[in-house]
Amino acid sequence: MWGIIATWRMAVEGITEADKMLKNGADSGDAIEVAIKEVENFPYYKSVGYGGLPNEEMEVELDAAYMDGDTLDIGAVAAIKDYANPISIARRLSHEKVNCMLVGEGAEKFAHKEGFERKNMLTDRAKIHYKNRVKEVQQQEIKPYSGHDTVGMVCLDTHGKMTAATSTSGLFMKKKGRVGDSPISGSGFYVDSKIGGASATGLGEDLMKGCISYEIVRLMKEGKHPQEACEIAVNNLDEELKARRGKAGDLSLIAMNNKGEWGVATNIEGFSFAVATENEEPIVYLTKNVNGKCIHEVASQEWLDNYMKTRTAPLEEK
Ligand code: GLY
Repeated sequence: MWGIIATWRMAVEGITEADKMLKNGADSGDAIEVAIKEVENFPYYKSVGYGGLPNEEMEVELDAAYMDGDTLDIGAVAAIKDYANPISIARRLSHEKVNCMLVGEGAEKFAHKEGFERKNMLTDRAKIHYKNRVKEVQQQEIKPYSGHDTVGMVCLDTHGKMTAATSTSGLFMKKKGRVGDSPISGSGFYVDSKIGGASATGLGEDLMKGCISYEIVRLMKEGKHPQEACEIAVNNLDEELKARRGKAGDLSLIAMNNKGEWGVATNIEGFSFAVATENEEPIVYLTKNVNGKCIHEVASQEWLDNYMKTRTAPLEEK
């Protein structure tokens, strides 16, 4: 059995590449890295890699992580600037015994020394988004950019090895140096090949309050199906946050166990995700939470066409 599941529609091209590799017996780490890089390289996705939206100082600071579910090795970078593929740097760091999570200048120094590709990640389009937002943002609370966020994936290969990976530019207009859940083990991602893995997207500050990816893996370890594990974890955290703090940020989770069974839960409307397994061609679903149960529907062709049209529509400065 093999499989890969990812947050958001933006991941489908990446998981399609990974699916081809996994079919041919590729390593889960190689497949997930290719899949994440595909998302990082596409300039029209505004919350990951090249074209990601900048912080309040108009700098694109990126977070990424990689975890190997066999060895439990983890590598992560946070607030890294001017490197094309943070995921590859995170994966490289996962081979280190210590110093495997680096931030800012330290991460950039490491990437330079290791010969990773440098790139100005701020596109002209992202600059326009920034300038337009500067005009609007003064009186508003910072929210995760509507409809787009972290790409997070969990992958199982034919050898039974599982991996998890994330990549994001984080919140649009975040403070310089702000780090969300995505590079934080247990919050943005977690995977154990003996059980399964999970990854998150949404408001990092709230996802971290529940160590929610680890919580899902823990529930799967207790014998829960990934779907049930995701629903329990998301519903519980959503309820706790509302009870204690009056509101909960966006929480959306994907998970897969080591049998290739998967699950997804969200507390928002219209969360999209992409999945491919030995039994399913790469496909995009939309999901919604109806009284605690998440209902998944295959995305229509109209929805898919509209998605790309909106992402690539011409953008003008206001
Ligand atoms: N979930 C991504 C972030 O909050 O940065």
